[in-house]
Amino acid sequence: MADARPFHWEYRPEPVAREVFRIDGGQPLTGMVTISGAKNSALKLFAAATLTGERCRLTNVPEIEDVRVMAETLRDLGVVVEHPADNVYEIASGDVEWLFVPLEAAARMRASFILLGPLLARFGRVIISNPGGDRIGRRPVDLHVEAMRTLGASIDYRNGYYFATAPGRLRGAEVTFPFVSVMGTENALLAATLADGHTVIRPAAQEPEVDDLISFLQAMGAAVERTAPDTIEVDGRKRLRGAEHRVMPDRIEAGTFAIAAAVTGGRVILQDAPCDDLAAFIEILRGVGVGVTCGPDSIEIDGAALHAGGYTARDIETAPYPGLATDLQPPTAVLLTQAAGTSHVHEAIFEDRLEWTTEIRRMGAKLKLTDGHHATITGPSSLVGAEVEIGDLRAGASLMLAALAAKGTSTIHGAHHVHRGYENIEGKFLDIGASITRDAEGTTVNDS
Ligand code: EPZ
Repeated sequence: MADARPFHWEYRPEPVAREVFRIDGGQPLTGMVTISGAKNSALKLFAAATLTGERCRLTNVPEIEDVRVMAETLRDLGVVVEHPADNVYEIASGDVEWLFVPLEAAARMRASFILLGPLLARFGRVIISNPGGDRIGRRPVDLHVEAMRTLGASIDYRNGYYFATAPGRLRGAEVTFPFVSVMGTENALLAATLADGHTVIRPAAQEPEVDDLISFLQAMGAAVERTAPDTIEVDGRKRLRGAEHRVMPDRIEAGTFAIAAAVTGGRVILQDAPCDDLAAFIEILRGVGVGVTCGPDSIEIDGAALHAGGYTARDIETAPYPGLATDLQPPTAVLLTQAAGTSHVHEAIFEDRLEWTTEIRRMGAKLKLTDGHHATITGPSSLVGAEVEIGDLRAGASLMLAALAAKGTSTIHGAHHVHRGYENIEGKFLDIGASITRDAEGTTVNDS
């Protein structure tokens, strides 16, 4: 039944205050950092919670802007989203009244598109904006839309919005992707849990965050299994129940702080960090000469070699998991600026994810872009503080890493990008000895 009420949407997100980081670099970082819950799992778990009207409880949720945007987007649909304590959210989707994800939500966060599958599967219709997202490439969603059509949905695209309906119920099917898509896999998986019949998704993304989502869905009563490394199979259920889940640690945050220790010649223990989920990245660190010791739920990073013998250049190439995560390409590139010799970087996933390197060149990095997917880094180069501008979330964190390694003071504009995906990043850097302040345009807020 089409919703009779007009879609006049009063969605006025607060203007994001522009912030700058000021960092005095050059000193080794030492101590311990506790890794927060994974952004790229938590956002999907919120979406999964809309598959049931029963209450779901998520713990170890990172306190970051993207989670707040997702919570706000769900509340605007009529979902009850409570935040009873830090890092804890409770979600109850009993009375969803609007099946409309507006432009503003999608423009602030591409991951809002993950609501397509669950809302379509549970309610049979949704209007959702074509998402924006980080400035790292076109970021189309054609694979998501095709997967929904394969599951029986009809989807029209008009004036920037997808109008999706699933008369009756979605139907289980063979969903085959031309290449791996993380959120494409997750949207198909979420939709299939309530579809009528059996669904096979391949090649299914193998990122650990997908398995975190699978374990939450299983706790909700979904019949979903990873039956082969790149295959997920689902038997649709009529309904799912509420469940509780602890968000897995954020391997990208862990990798970011590992590079911070490596490029400052420090020694840092990453608590609650998943060695197993970082095998390709750790292999690169060790190949360059960084000391890495894996504990049961921690990783110790030793950057002593930076000043004794030095690091060795090596080539890197991003790939779907279990390859090197594209989100770790910018931090790893910062490490390669400190390695003796020539390193080749191949960013195979996104077409614009090397743009940020123009900024690191201002700090003295010797880096050449051969095309949108390839760069050559010659090192070691001694970095010096500079004034730089952040373009996207992961580039922002990487410019912070370069500033921590650089001699002198750096001013990094666009700090708000970093707060989208890293919980209390300045506080965590301060705890391991960094000299950093966060200025909200004109005033200095010293996070002591
Ligand atoms: C997820 O994005 C992550 N985001 C990204 O992290 C991550 O970089 C990416 O996976 C790759 O690991 C979240 O999980 C919220 P893809 P996603 O679909 O799912 C193309 C961060 O900073 N493609 O696996 O959007 C696409 O353009 C973010 O946390 C299509 O062509 O990535 C890319 O070239 C950045 N059509 C490739 O596939 C589609 O319909 C892989 O993208 C979808 C994707």
